[in-house]
Amino acid sequence: MKIMILNGPNLARLDLRDKDIYGNLSYEDLRKFIVDKAIALELEVDIRQSDSESEIVSWIHEAADNKMPMIINPAAFTHYSYAIRDAVSMLKAPAIEVHLSNPLSREEFRHTSVVSGVVQGTIAGFGAESYELALVAMQKLMN
Ligand code: DQA
Repeated sequence: MKIMILNGPNLARLDLRDKDIYGNLSYEDLRKFIVDKAIALELEVDIRQSDSESEIVSWIHEAADNKMPMIINPAAFTHYSYAIRDAVSMLKAPAIEVHLSNPLSREEFRHTSVVSGVVQGTIAGFGAESYELALVAMQKLMN
């Protein structure tokens, strides 16, 4: 079973974002990192990114319809998208929330995740390795 990996708004422009927070990682580097780790773990991944809430919701519907497991970095939508929360709550397979940075050590508005309550768990603050840790956790949840 393929794991759907969804990345939200502005993550495709990681190279233009605050280097103190996101380091020197480009989105292409992140994609490649995830693919390499998935291959090493013998997992299949389908990695997608969108800046559009509606497109992300439709991809979550696709995962729900097909009972696909999901790793999701909703990016800024984390903090206020009830539409994404409601869609994630429909998933039938495990879902894990990931963040590159640790939102709890940043601005106050990032301290709330409306998604955390409807996923199995959240991994945040380890840069690209947050995704690797999520893949390892997902492998256990899938077994
Ligand atoms: C992020 C954290 C969010 O607060 C922010 O809006 C992002 C990225 C992260 O991966 O650290 O765009 O989800």
